[in-house]
Amino acid sequence: MPLPAAPIEDTTLYTDTHLYDTMTWGGCEPIYLDAALRSGGPVLELGCGTGRMLVPMAQRGLSVTGIDQSAEMLATARQRLTSVAASATVVEGDMSRFTFPESFAFIFCAINSLLHLLETDNLRSCFASVRRALRPDGQFMFDIVNFQPAYLAIGPGERHTVGEYESDLHGRYRIEETLRYDAATQIAHKTFFYSAAGAPDFRLVHFPLRVIFPQELEALLALEGLRLETRLGDRSGEPFHSGSPSQLCIVRHA
Ligand SMILES: C[S@@+](CC[C@H](N)C(=O)[O-])C[C@H]1O[C@@H](n2cnc3c(N)ncnc32)[C@H](O)[C@@H]1O
Repeated sequence: MPLPAAPIEDTTLYTDTHLYDTMTWGGCEPIYLDAALRSGGPVLELGCGTGRMLVPMAQRGLSVTGIDQSAEMLATARQRLTSVAASATVVEGDMSRFTFPESFAFIFCAINSLLHLLETDNLRSCFASVRRALRPDGQFMFDIVNFQPAYLAIGPGERHTVGEYESDLHGRYRIEETLRYDAATQIAHKTFFYSAAGAPDFRLVHFPLRVIFPQELEALLALEGLRLETRLGDRSGEPFHSGSPSQLCIVRHA
């Protein structure tokens, strides 16, 4: 497919599912797969996207439900499930307020999806929904960025590289980002700039992410009857410390 002459501008990473998958596809993160298998299911994924985590869980025979607000991402997830003859329930909906007829032994929300909930009220109603849907001995796991002050202080005009990726449609391409942090709302306004050979900035995506600091997170969970049992520093299970890239949280009923 030829690259567009003028940049495509978008406000979400999730309309072009092909490009999204070239950035993130790599199978299910083992920390989530192991926890799901240990729980025995049923499993609920919040922000299941194109099924990177959910499909391998369904293939292992777990009863899996996924919720996502993007019709495009869910269409790709459904195709994937069909292509591997696995079954899972995937529903279009808002993870900030959900109910299901069944309760779950394991609920998870991977790779910063929670940061799409920008308002404190949305985060709280998400946690309240998790508490209602989680079995008494169930586990809720999620990972979000451990934002560093130096990163948030980057000037809005300053571009830095996110990564380089390979796509069948675009060839080798690079993503750079700019950031403007609003300390009053704790929202990081990002723009991703996609460039390929001969096509600088062929795609721009402007999107906001909520910044959630470690002590605030624990308090928000507690307000909704949840208890932070363990916080790890990344998805490989390193201990959490001030400079950790992530907050990988394991949460239970208070
Ligand atoms: C970072 S992606 C993660 C996708 C998938 N879990 C993965 O590991 O590749 C975040 C996903 O959350 C979804 N999302 C964002 N806000 C949401 C909301 N309020 N309710 C449900 N899904 C949401 C997006 O559509 C997107 O598919």
